[in-house]
Amino acid sequence: MPGRTCNASQSPVGGRAGRRGGKGIALNELRIGLLGLGTVGSGVARLLLTHGELFEQRLGMGLRLTRIATLPSPHLKTLDLTGIAVSDDARAVVTAPDVDLVVELIGGYDPARGFIRTALEQGKHVVTANKALIAVHGNELLAVARDHGVELCFEAAVAGAIPILKALRESLVANRIDRIQGILNGTCNYILTEMRERGAPFAQVLQEAQAQGYAEADPSFDVDGIDTAHKLTILSALAFGTPLDFASVHIEGIRNISEVDIAWAERLNYRIKLLAIARRVDGRLQLRVHPAMVGADTMVATVEGVFNAVFVDGDFSGPTMYHGRGAGQLPTASAVVADIADVARNLRAGAVGRVAPLSTWPERLTPLPVQPIDELVSEYFLRMTVADRAGVLAEVTRIFHHHNISIMTIHQDAVPGQNREDSPVPLVLVTHATTERKIQASLAELERLEVVTEKPHLIRIESSID
Ligand SMILES: NC(=O)c1ccc[n+]([C@@H]2O[C@H](COP(=O)([O-])OP(=O)(O)OC[C@H]3O[C@@H](n4cnc5c(N)ncnc54)[C@H](OP(=O)(O)O)[C@@H]3O)[C@@H](O)[C@H]2O)c1
Repeated sequence: MPGRTCNASQSPVGGRAGRRGGKGIALNELRIGLLGLGTVGSGVARLLLTHGELFEQRLGMGLRLTRIATLPSPHLKTLDLTGIAVSDDARAVVTAPDVDLVVELIGGYDPARGFIRTALEQGKHVVTANKALIAVHGNELLAVARDHGVELCFEAAVAGAIPILKALRESLVANRIDRIQGILNGTCNYILTEMRERGAPFAQVLQEAQAQGYAEADPSFDVDGIDTAHKLTILSALAFGTPLDFASVHIEGIRNISEVDIAWAERLNYRIKLLAIARRVDGRLQLRVHPAMVGADTMVATVEGVFNAVFVDGDFSGPTMYHGRGAGQLPTASAVVADIADVARNLRAGAVGRVAPLSTWPERLTPLPVQPIDELVSEYFLRMTVADRAGVLAEVTRIFHHHNISIMTIHQDAVPGQNREDSPVPLVLVTHATTERKIQASLAELERLEVVTEKPHLIRIESSID
């Protein structure tokens, strides 16, 4: 179809849709500029170079990589980049006349944010896997995209190869969604799985994961729950029709989970998982990321190693589950190129902006109040070390009684061979449902007891999960 052009003025998206600097796009190919040739960038380049014929067949147009901006990268030697202009100047790629769509795979906030902004202002579509940037600055960037009648796509930002954003926007569009939850960080899930299977401590497993490339040299975004919270921010905006609101997510990571907690979870028929939970409860949202005990016979408990899973409850669809590789070079590249293909198809159909990026029509996005974490109602696992002498249990249970917390089970196992008077013993309690405020107040009082010899450790029990 040489010579035919598509102008974004056909876009159903409002704002200044259609202003693309007066430049239409030749419909026989979409010209792509890639920023960053690291793990995902090199996967995207490989995929575009491998499946050229497939794209022509499926899209009716080619996806042509015309330019790459990269710093010195080992991947330059492993890819045949003949005919592709390679430079270290990302800005030049973003503004190049032979680039219709920019793929941002540099990561981080700046300079990625500036490159994306410039690309959008130049009337170029943008595809990114940058969850941190979308979660924190997505509202601003989506407004720029809309204002310039171009697409900003980010499927790869959440759960790698799992097409969960597309499922929420399109396949589940007919449903009101009150619950979306899951495991969104493969590094944490891998660490927790290894700790359980081998009884190994967190620090050792983290070190091994770093050596094997499953964890970053600076693992804090992963193990402190921040990466999961970025993804939950995006999922909850799509599910509930709100603007992106990273600041409202309650975040706890897995650094404090010990092999002792994991052994107790096994014994009580639970598994410990880092969960991302977004729920609508009485008109307010729960947005929380934290480790939790889940029943060993639940589906979420069977999600192991680097895998991710997302569970969505639609009011008409009922529960659905999405499982797959949440990260990695090729799975993430697959999601990035799927977004590129969507843009190509929309251009082909004269339907840029066919689907609102956050699923809800932009003018209809409405913030919802967020429930503070201390109002959460949950069951709790509490582990502490106490002096082994008469009356200790009474002192501990008096505090729970005082806060009106009902105890489901108590486990007090003396350490074999250490049953002398005053030698500390573990004490584990599982409570019935109570509020976070009450349990935290009890913890503070427990800490002050002379008979409690080690700071009490608390893990929420998530009983309403599939
Ligand atoms: N890795 C995954 O499995 C995965 C999964 C989902 C989403 N993501 C997201 O995908 C994005 C890329 O991740 P990644 O794992 O591919 O990161 P990466 O391996 O660190 O790749 C980023 C590349 O960009 C280069 N770079 C930095 N500044 C640049 C600039 N100004 N111009 C050109 N290149 C520049 C980096 O070079 P230097 O190394 O020399 O700085 C590096 O080669 C991130 O937003 C990440 O969150 C990754």
